[in-house]
Amino acid sequence: MGSAAAMAIAASNLTFGWGPDRPVLKNCSLAVPRGEFWMLLGTNGCGKSTLLRRLAGLLPDQGGTVSMAPPIGFVFQNPDHQLVMPTVGADVAFGLVAEKLSPEQVRRRVEEALDAVNLLHLIRRPIYALSGGQKQRVAIAGAIARHCEVLLLDEPTALLDPDSQIELVEQVRDLVKRRGITALWVTHRLNELDYCDGAILLDRGEVVDTGEPERLRQKLLKLGDIEVVC
Ligand SMILES: Nc1ncnc2c1ncn2[C@@H]1O[C@H](COP(=O)(O)OP(=O)(O)OP(=O)(O)O)[C@@H](O)[C@H]1O
Ligand SMILES: [Mg+2]
Repeated sequence: MGSAAAMAIAASNLTFGWGPDRPVLKNCSLAVPRGEFWMLLGTNGCGKSTLLRRLAGLLPDQGGTVSMAPPIGFVFQNPDHQLVMPTVGADVAFGLVAEKLSPEQVRRRVEEALDAVNLLHLIRRPIYALSGGQKQRVAIAGAIARHCEVLLLDEPTALLDPDSQIELVEQVRDLVKRRGITALWVTHRLNELDYCDGAILLDRGEVVDTGEPERLRQKLLKLGDIEVVC
């Protein structure tokens, strides 16, 4: 692992209680250089969400090492697992309670984060009245409002239409570059690879390839085992 990595996992193994012969992560290692925007690819059930949760420290240590530069922002695959407050503004503010900010600072952080995902106009909207794609954007706003060093995003465009998908990936990329955040973004959509600095391919819990996004895209197109949206 290079010392310039802001997030790294080395030789990690993980099972979900089905015994050592059915590991979800197998000797899994990766490193994302500080300030870079990387994507994580792989077929359904190969362990992408598990790997993100292990990186974020949400799963028990079962061997291997993880190094992360806190604070961490995490956007879950299903936004309903993340949004806990009754309104958009209250939900984004909720993540800031531990930060000892003044009400004015909280208001500014919330507005800035919602503006970054084009949702400022919905600040008073009840969460139940949002579409799936809007919920995903609120979850991203909640993560970036905390001014995290590291951002983990699990299929943040899964519920978005093609135009909103590209708009969001551009917005997040600009934001992480502007703020020097290190980000790992899970996706099945190969057109998103245009926006990242590097990519990682996971197969049955193992990192099988890492590196230049275009090379990985060509490799996956040849394999033809992943949803292709070009
Ligand atoms: N809490 C859990 N308990 C038991 N098994 C789990 C648990 N979470 C995940 N798994 C299993 O671990 C494997 C990897 O799941 P994971 O959610 O990491 O896949 P994924 O690559 O994110 O898939 P997808 O593309 O469908 O989101 C799957 O076989 C899944 O059923
Ligand atoms: Mg997943």
